[in-house]
Amino acid sequence: MVNKIGVIGAGNIGGVLVQELVRRRLAKTVAVTDPAPFVNPNDPPEKQATTQKQSVAQGKALDILEATPIIGSDVAIEAGRDYDVLAGCDLVINTAGVPRKARPDGTMPSREELLSINLKVTSAVADGIKKYCPNAMVISIANPLDAIVYTLHRKLNPPKNKLVGMAGVLDSARYRYFVADAIGVSVENVEALVLGGHGDDMVPVRSCCRVAGMPVEQFLSSAELDAIEMRTRKAGGEVVGLLGTGSAFVSPAISALEMAEAILFDKKRVTAACVLLEGEYGVDGMFVGVPVVLGKNGVEKVVETQLTDAERKALDVSVAGVKKTCADVDKMLAETAAA
Ligand code: LAC
Repeated sequence: MVNKIGVIGAGNIGGVLVQELVRRRLAKTVAVTDPAPFVNPNDPPEKQATTQKQSVAQGKALDILEATPIIGSDVAIEAGRDYDVLAGCDLVINTAGVPRKARPDGTMPSREELLSINLKVTSAVADGIKKYCPNAMVISIANPLDAIVYTLHRKLNPPKNKLVGMAGVLDSARYRYFVADAIGVSVENVEALVLGGHGDDMVPVRSCCRVAGMPVEQFLSSAELDAIEMRTRKAGGEVVGLLGTGSAFVSPAISALEMAEAILFDKKRVTAACVLLEGEYGVDGMFVGVPVVLGKNGVEKVVETQLTDAERKALDVSVAGVKKTCADVDKMLAETAAA
C-alpha cells in the first residue's frame, strides 16, 4: 500500500475514483482537490461568503468517509479547494476539466472542442502538481485526452515513464463489451486493443481481438465487426447523448484504477495507454495510445505490434488528428506566454 494517492477534480469521475480508492484500500490516504463551487462575483456579498465556505471535494469526501465504517476501510481522505492537499502524493490521477455535453440541438461537440477551456484548467493542475508533489506518477483522464497529457508534459516535463493518459483501457473495454454482447459470451473471454488518439478516429485493432484465444473473425462477420468498431469509436458520445448532463464516469474511473493497480502492485500489465513516443510506431514527440507494460516504474516499455496495412493507415490518420490538436496546444501555450 502506498502512502498517498491524489485525485484532481471531485466531479463524477473524481467521486468514483475516491470511493474506489478508499474501498480497495489502495493507499493510506486519498487526497482530493477541486476549486468548486465557484464564487460568482455578481452575487450579493453574503451569498459569496457562503459559497466560499463550501467545497465539493470536502462534501464528497465526508459522504464517502461516513460509509467507511460499513465498508470497513480506515483509509483517510484529505479534501479541499486548494492543491495543498496533494502534498506528498506518490500517484496523482487528473480528472480536472469540463466534460462533453450534447448541444441544445442534440448535436455532439468533439472532445477536441474542449481544448481551450480545459487547457487553462490543466495549466493550474500542472502548477499544483509542480508545487506539492513534483515526483508523483501521473495518470490523466481529462479531455481532449492526448492533448491534455501533452500539455502536462510541456508544463511538467517529467521522466517519460511517469506520465500516462487513460483512454486505451476504456476504449478496449468498450470494444470487448460490444463483442462479448454480440457473440453471447463472457466479457472475460474477450481481449481487445484500441490504439491511436482518444477521438472518433481511434483504431480498434481487429487483428488483435481474441475470444478465448481464438480470432474474433471466427465468431462475427466482417460487417458485424465493422459496426462494432464504429460503435466503439463513438462510444463516449453515445453515453453523452444518453446522459444529457455530461460524459461517462464509471467506466473511465474504473479504467484508470486498473492502470493505478498495475503500477501499485507492479503487475507488469500489458495495456493500451497514451504515452510519449520517441520513434515507436513511426511517431516522435507525441502522446498516442499504444500497448505498454505498466509496473512499479510506471510506463516500463512500449510494445510494438504488427498491424495490417489498413490498421497502420488508420493509425496514421488518428496520429495526424492528435498532431493537429497538439499544434493547437503549442499555439495556445505560446499565446499565454506572450500575454
Ligand atoms: C469517454 C470520455 C470520458 O470516452 O472521454 O467517455
